[in-house]
Amino acid sequence: MGSLRNNQNQHEIKSTEQPHVVVIMVPLPAQGHLNQLMQLSCLITLYDIPIYYVGSAIHNRQAKIRVNGLSPHDIAKIHFHDLPTPSFASPPPNPNSSNKFPSQLQPAWDATLSLRQPVATYLRDMSSKANRVVVIHDPMMAVVVQDVASIPNAESYVFNCISAFFLSSFNLEKKGIPFPIKLPKELPSMEGCIPDDVQSFVALQMEQLKYRAGDIYNTCRLIEAPYLDLLASEDETGNRKSWAIGPILPTKFSSPNKYIKCLEWLDKQEVKSVIYVTFGTTTSLSDEQIEQLALGLEQSKQKFLWVLRDADKGNVFDGEVRRAKLPEGCEERVKGVGIVVRDWAPQPEILAHPSTGGFMSHCGWNSCIESIKMGVPIAAWPMHSDQPRNTVLVTDILKIGLVVREWTQSEELVKASTIVNVVKRLMASEEGNEIRKRAEELGATVRQATEEGGVSRVELDSFVAHITRYNDLMGYQALVLH
Ligand SMILES: *[C@@H]1O[C@H](CO)[C@@H](O)[C@H](O)[C@H]1NC(C)=O
Repeated sequence: MGSLRNNQNQHEIKSTEQPHVVVIMVPLPAQGHLNQLMQLSCLITLYDIPIYYVGSAIHNRQAKIRVNGLSPHDIAKIHFHDLPTPSFASPPPNPNSSNKFPSQLQPAWDATLSLRQPVATYLRDMSSKANRVVVIHDPMMAVVVQDVASIPNAESYVFNCISAFFLSSFNLEKKGIPFPIKLPKELPSMEGCIPDDVQSFVALQMEQLKYRAGDIYNTCRLIEAPYLDLLASEDETGNRKSWAIGPILPTKFSSPNKYIKCLEWLDKQEVKSVIYVTFGTTTSLSDEQIEQLALGLEQSKQKFLWVLRDADKGNVFDGEVRRAKLPEGCEERVKGVGIVVRDWAPQPEILAHPSTGGFMSHCGWNSCIESIKMGVPIAAWPMHSDQPRNTVLVTDILKIGLVVREWTQSEELVKASTIVNVVKRLMASEEGNEIRKRAEELGATVRQATEEGGVSRVELDSFVAHITRYNDLMGYQALVLH
């Protein structure tokens, strides 16, 4: 990326000859979505385009304090704009529910529906100050940004934080069209993946997606070309552009000191010997399940780094959080073998650490794409939404992972013996070594795709060239900066 930032000549030419374009990011308030739009913001700042990151004060604060692996220098360039947001209920997640969808976030999402007016006002204001306003939004924020359609010098792009594999299969299924690509295994059913009230929220958004000018994907053609092509062929307008620019997570980090403890522990372990265990920010496991997982990790005798946190509430700053108990004496017995982290953990740095050799994950797309980029194989334990299908992509298609528990058994307790078996297979078997080797090779290929001249970088450059294009701005030429 350095070459973009350091090219002073290019910078000077830009400020006189390029139209004044501003990018406005509108994320869905959920950690995996806030995070990916933060990553994208940092990437686009490297092209000297001003970025405005828009959301409630609570969620803007969440996005900033949980930044992982991004450069403070890039973040300092992002302008955060707090939108007045009505207060919303922030109930705790229910760890005992057999359906793991984070329904506790729904009030926070419903509150976004009242942001249409303030966002429209903000966009109109920005549109009077720039040649072009480019809105990049979560698909689940389409209702909020719909007034882009009435602003002549504004256009909107959807940023997809999910896999093209999931999205293409989901879209076709809704239209009743069978998936046209032969798969090694039948697609897991969507039944129980997304609750009904969330589906209505999704349906509201779908109607407004017609206004978008294009699609951006946090994936790479090297891993998802067939599904990206499927998505492109669905475009009924015929002129919607799309760019697969991922994985957008940086390859190199400037690591903050406050996290040094678990990374220090990793420093002392052997290469590829540790399995990193976490299920993201939307999963709350029951006490019973935590006990089985703890016993399984202990009995596997493999090194582990387990981040044990409860799922996020709609407002992560609001009150106390359940601190799940571990079985009696467990932490003592695993001393030197495993550690349990309760704080916010630096996932990208953990995945990039040479001691990390496996990742037990819920297979949210954020985790999948980070693991893919860092070349770490996955033990997949899907919980809800797109995760069962991401599991198919990771295990059966890319062949860089193993399944912990089949989706058809999602309501059953995963026993310690199952955990022991899968951890040993991934971390201490010939089969595991082969999977790890494939993951490492794929990681190297995918990292290269985001470097100068790589396929994802070319698409990112092409997106930036598109949003800064000159041709149809003639009516606004008076505004061009000199
Ligand atoms: C979940 O179940 C445990 C017992 O297994 C109980 O102690 C706890 O209060 C329950 N939590 C909720 C939120 O229902």
